[in-house]
Amino acid sequence: MQTIRQLADLRDAVSGLRAAGAGIAFVPTMGALHAGHMALVAAAKQAGQRVVVSIFVNPKQFGPNEDLAKYPRKEQADSRMLTEAGVDVLWLPPVEVMYPEGHSTNISVSGVSEPLDGAARPGHFDGVATVVAKLFNQVRPDIALFGEKDFQQLAVIRRMVADLDFDIEIRGVPTQRDDDGLALSSRNVYLPGEERAAAVALPRALGIAARAIEKGDEVVAALATARGSLEAAGFEVDYVELVDAETLADPVAGKPRRLLAAARIAGTRLIDNIAIGQS
Ligand code: PAJ
Repeated sequence: MQTIRQLADLRDAVSGLRAAGAGIAFVPTMGALHAGHMALVAAAKQAGQRVVVSIFVNPKQFGPNEDLAKYPRKEQADSRMLTEAGVDVLWLPPVEVMYPEGHSTNISVSGVSEPLDGAARPGHFDGVATVVAKLFNQVRPDIALFGEKDFQQLAVIRRMVADLDFDIEIRGVPTQRDDDGLALSSRNVYLPGEERAAAVALPRALGIAARAIEKGDEVVAALATARGSLEAAGFEVDYVELVDAETLADPVAGKPRRLLAAARIAGTRLIDNIAIGQS
């Protein structure tokens, strides 16, 4: 695996892979890699392509009171995992390479980035869209893979790629979970033992609500029950909402729906979501 920190070197490496006739599959990450990230890498390899992974803890997507300074950084362990997984290039741009002095362009995807996490974390999705657009222009992949764990992020990226005519196929990969059902997240390391055990209430509440909605129960009641069981488990709830799976606006009859939640436990904000079948 080549580890690269300068843009000119990245361009040379990617040109080299392309000259050998390979397509490029790209997995952007912020590091502190776990089995969720590695599922994206495995899907990228399976696509039969050369694989580029980026690790960049993007300051533009963290709010002023968020965890940028304490976000876990594990470059050596990450590098080992990616080498073992057969990744071709690790792109590790320093912050001054990503945002040189004078950087002033921001990408803002309206609509899909406004509700839910967009409302709870002002500016977050502008930061995500801006860095992902830059990463796409740096790596110029054929396909890029994102986790369904960050469902709104995936929807924002799909919208941006369509709107800005990026010639990149976006693939979503199902959420990878611990044995008890909690979605894997780099932020789970913040949870003390007791709260880690209580956190399983999040996927459970979503599963119960999804089944209730699928069998035709009143949506408002199912969402209220989910909210109640999260609060009983010690969560402070940001939102539990049923939305259109593409636009994240109010659900539309006959279109796929998704149930999303965000809630805080022991000061750590967790998100999760689940598909809803037809009722
Ligand atoms: P990060 O949180 O490191 O996640 C990188 C990718 O891994 C995202 O596509 C995310 O959805 C996926 N992922 C995380 N946990 C997962 C899980 N349990 N199952 C499946 N996929 C999972 O998301 C970001 O970084 C950043 O916002 C980024 C896109 C890199 C832009 O800075």
